[in-house]
Parts: sequence; structure tokens; C-alpha cells
Amino acid sequence: MAKVTTVVIPAAGVGTRLFPASKAIPKELFPIGDRPAIQYNVEEAYQAGIRRVIFVINPYKEHILYHFLPNERVYRQLKHKRQLEALEQLKELETKMEFETVIQYNPHGLGHAIHVCKNRIPKDEWFAIMLGDEIVFPETTPPLKRLVDNAVEHDGCSISLLPVPDEHVNRYGIIGGEELNHDDGLWRVDTLVEKPALEDAPSRMAITGRYVVPATIFDAFDDIGPDARNEIQLTPALQALTKDYPFHGLVLKGERLDIGNPEGLAQANMAWLRRYGQTNG
Ligand code: G1P
Repeated sequence: MAKVTTVVIPAAGVGTRLFPASKAIPKELFPIGDRPAIQYNVEEAYQAGIRRVIFVINPYKEHILYHFLPNERVYRQLKHKRQLEALEQLKELETKMEFETVIQYNPHGLGHAIHVCKNRIPKDEWFAIMLGDEIVFPETTPPLKRLVDNAVEHDGCSISLLPVPDEHVNRYGIIGGEELNHDDGLWRVDTLVEKPALEDAPSRMAITGRYVVPATIFDAFDDIGPDARNEIQLTPALQALTKDYPFHGLVLKGERLDIGNPEGLAQANMAWLRRYGQTNG
């Protein structure tokens, strides 16, 4: 595999769990500490060597893109006010990365959100996926960089994992496979089941919001119909890839924050305060 240079960030959901806050402002732009939630994911992608970001949005969420577009007026103000560090940080992302949107007109699930990007990614490329409402404050190496490095090393797929308690198993995609290296948190994955009942779950290892996959995943959707809730899921497409590629999971090292509900958003801000609050004043 050559380099992984593109990330797809599905962010088309209307954010019902954060209503009414999310009515006019995309939840992905809600602040965690000093920056919008989605900027953490974009920064993590940048640290993983990614330079092209595709946001999958609905027609009312264009502001996600605006946040990353160069804005000379803002630059002038920041310069005038001598906020040079913030200016440099922002400019680095804006000038070194390319941002684009794909509109998902009728949301039909996570798999569908990925599938609408089919014509944007060359057939022979590999790309990353990061879910827009999950951010991670990493322990050491940013999680997406670990996935990209692993994918390149093995010429295969990588996903991020986290052990979950029994009562949360039916909220996640759950993997089956074999732990290859406990210290590295490395798993070989052969089974992926979307939100199984506890008795059907192949393990307690949940898929979290980061993936590295080949563009051939788009073909896998040809054989995947909608589920009972009329949604096309990503998990069956991942299962299809296990037939053709080495497939690994890496247990997340860091603090995973789900900002898609009020409690998660508040917890993310408290985590930010604990971690970065002092230095940011
Ligand atoms: C999605 C995926 C699921 C994954 C989860 C991680 O579910 O379908 O496999 O475990 O994200 O947060 P959702 O949370 O969109 O229902």
C-alpha cells in the first residue's frame, strides 16, 4: 500500500440527542475546551499524515467546512491582537490540508455515508474513516497514526477497538478474532457483528470510530442491503474485507469521548479541563 492521504469523516446526522443545541449549529462544531470537537479529529488525521479531508454532511451543515477555510479577516485580527500561536495552529491545518464536502441527502446509516464518497476516492487507494462525534485524547501516539502505520506495515485493514462491559455490547460493532500482542493491543480480526445481543457477541471488544480500509470497500456495498431499521451499516462491508485482506484491530490507548449526547459533551469538556486547562489559562 502506498500512503494513506484521505480521511472521510461522516458528520451528516441531525444530532437529535443534542437537540435543541444542535438545531442550527452542527454538534461537531460544539466547543471542547478552546476548539470545535471536529478539529481534534482533523488534527489527529494531520498527525497521521493525512492531507485530504472529506466531510459527509447534510445540506445544513456546511459550517463544518467554513471552519477550515482560510479567512484573511480573522488572520488580521489575530495578528493585531498578537495571538500568534493560535494563528499559526489554524493556518497550518488550513494551508496544508484540503477540505471538501459530500452531501448525504437521505441519511441511511453509516455504511451509506461512506458509500456516497465512492466517486471521490480512486479505486487503488486506501483511506481512513473517523466518526465525527468521537474524539480521543491520546496517551502517546495518536490512535489514527497507529492504525495507518499498522495498515501500511501489514498491507491490510486496521480498526480501533475498546473493551466494553456486557451491558454495552449491543451498542457497538463487536469483533471476533485473536489477540496477537497484549502489550501492543494488537488483534487479528475475522468476525465483525453490528450491535449483537450479548449471547451472540464474539467478544467484548467494540469497534470505535477509526478505520483504515481500501477503496474496494465500495464494491462490498453492492451485496449489502438495509438492516431492520432500514440503514446500511458499515460493519458488514468490513466483514467482507476480512476475506481479501489481513485485518487487525488495535486497542485504543487514550481517553475516548463521545460528544454526541449532553453527558458525553460535558464529560469531554471536563476531560479537556483536567488535561489542558492549566496551560491554556
Ligand atoms: C457506529 C458503528 C458501530 C461502532 C460505533 C462506534 O454505531 O455502526 O459499529 O461500534 O459507531 O461508536 P453508531 O454509534 O453510529 O450507532
